[in-house]
Amino acid sequence: MTKYVIKKAGKYWPSKAMKDIAWVNDSKIYKQADKDPVKFWGELAKQGLIWEEPWEKTYQEKLPYFYWFKGGKINFCVNALDRHLAHGNKPALIWVPEPIKEKPIILTYAELFQQVNKFANALKQKGVKKSDAVSIYLPLVPEALVAMLACSRIGAIHSVVFSAFAPDALKSRIQDCEAKVLVTADGYYRRGKPVNLLKKAKKALRGTKIKKVIVVPRLHKNKNYFGKFENFNMFIYGKKSYCAPEIMNSEDPLFILYTSGTTGKPKGIVHDTGGYATQAYYTAKYNFNLKKDDIMWCTADIGWVTGHTYAFYGPLLNGATTLIYEGTPDFPNPDRWWKIIDKYKVSVFYTAPTAIRMFMKLGDKYVNKHKMNSLKILATVGEPIDNDAWNWYFKKIGKSRCPIIDTWWQTETGGTLINVLPGIGPFIPTIAGKSFPGTKHTILNKSGKKVKKGFLVQESPFAPGMLHGVYKDHKKYVETYWKSFKTKYDTSDGAIMKNGLFRITGRTDDVMKVAGHRLATAELENAINTNKLVNESAVVPIPDKIRGQVPIAFVILKKGQGSEKLEKLLKEHVDKHLGPTARPAKIYFVNALPKTRSGKIMRRILKSLLANEEPAGLTTLLNPKCVDEIKKIIQPDLKKPENAKKSKTKK
Ligand code: WT7
Repeated sequence: MTKYVIKKAGKYWPSKAMKDIAWVNDSKIYKQADKDPVKFWGELAKQGLIWEEPWEKTYQEKLPYFYWFKGGKINFCVNALDRHLAHGNKPALIWVPEPIKEKPIILTYAELFQQVNKFANALKQKGVKKSDAVSIYLPLVPEALVAMLACSRIGAIHSVVFSAFAPDALKSRIQDCEAKVLVTADGYYRRGKPVNLLKKAKKALRGTKIKKVIVVPRLHKNKNYFGKFENFNMFIYGKKSYCAPEIMNSEDPLFILYTSGTTGKPKGIVHDTGGYATQAYYTAKYNFNLKKDDIMWCTADIGWVTGHTYAFYGPLLNGATTLIYEGTPDFPNPDRWWKIIDKYKVSVFYTAPTAIRMFMKLGDKYVNKHKMNSLKILATVGEPIDNDAWNWYFKKIGKSRCPIIDTWWQTETGGTLINVLPGIGPFIPTIAGKSFPGTKHTILNKSGKKVKKGFLVQESPFAPGMLHGVYKDHKKYVETYWKSFKTKYDTSDGAIMKNGLFRITGRTDDVMKVAGHRLATAELENAINTNKLVNESAVVPIPDKIRGQVPIAFVILKKGQGSEKLEKLLKEHVDKHLGPTARPAKIYFVNALPKTRSGKIMRRILKSLLANEEPAGLTTLLNPKCVDEIKKIIQPDLKKPENAKKSKTKK
């Protein structure tokens, strides 16, 4: 069995076998890129992508905005598909359905090309033009890739909405980007049961400008579609299998993806075409060492940016094969994922720490029987990975043969930015690594001074895949990313520098990471507050062994007492308004919330109380008495503080 790592002085490094196959195996790349990052990216973009017309200016900065490859003309779909038609019989996509009896779907590049072109022609016939937005509310099905690429072919902007989101969440996103077309499905399978997605989609449509709904017949439940609704297969039936690609400016938007900010309203993160393509292509190539024969499995849903960049676009831009699956990790069996890796010979596996922790808890017996000897590279994303989870992943999944690439990035950054490259190393648990060649991050304190521990920022020139603003909200864009450090992009993450490598410590704003999903406390509070029984609420995260963090809600009722029944009702209310990912793990009913004299809720105090710590700064509170009340209410659920235990054993 080829070993891709070796241990040297207690650390893991790439083996000779890894170095031999690695696109990048010389750390000189960092220095070279650093000398002239603009030139570095310019050369990569020229080498790696097909441009219809060269750009005039590689990089231009007019903060808070910056532009890559201005004047350059490009079509994204041509880069993801057309140029791979020379090996058109190669699988582009493998889709594994949940029901075991059902066959997987394998689409070759040639087949995918045909479907994408037909869908593109069908969209055009319905009047969808360059710069129009198309909302996509689909689970992980091949048609999602077809629809997204078809949009990029005709210059329409796709906006994917996570299929587990509630109708309200879909509706507000459709309204914000003013989509006239929605692509959805009649449903999908999850844990052995069909889920009715169309019902949710229909609920969301009221009050929007959607004129056409294209429905993927995943469950084949509905035979006739009327009015706005049309079967996906009928929609593309008889359409021409070539659609001339729309030639776009590098700076034209490719997609909008909504993500949680610190306020209740999600932000539409805008990504452009040429810059995004460059970063997606090269980060996939260098981080995961993708070659044409690789089969990459990124387990993320397309509702998240990871699904966009590494389940779909990165592997396709590289001409590799991507695998996606329907359902959940542990159904029908807790070893479903490992079986898939063996059966389809997955070589690059990219997942989230929360999934690793879940499998770790299920026990080793489900992984031990799987060889997984096709694997070369393992990777993680979404939240910091702890030592135990890293080691388990390394030993049990990688069988101590494969490097783990811990990639730090965000919806806003489009592609990965901080990680170790597989041909360079070292691979150290809990350490993300270095800035990708041609990018630069530093750690600052509040006043903008360079420190070893503090706020993580990105320096100019900003990476080509970075966001191009918040859709229709310049103010939000400036306030969120440019207010604190002016000429540096504020990541809202904390970090520590250790031997020239970054350790990410987590969000520094009111954003939680629940099972890798991003959720704003304000978004959840707003949803709870829409319930007519609720007067006010505050939400804070607490650490969770599997999910990383989970939300805890404190609720003041308009009248009456809280009860278990009411707690259940409010949780269901959250499911309905945001989706089950956001459901609070616990709801406490209180009479008051700790507030400053100006009326701001002090979530920090609630956090301390839940951590069983004595909160600081009580004197500045408007209503310090409420702290004792809250203490009493949460007391039964609190774990004994660890140091209390320790001091006992010492005695
Ligand atoms: C936030 C962004 C970008 C892909 C999925 C999440 C956290 C992401 C790591 C990592 C520690 C990480 C950060 C970041 N995060 N990757 N490797 N180590 N933290 O995208 O939903 O936009 O969330 O996820 O806190 O700001 P997202």
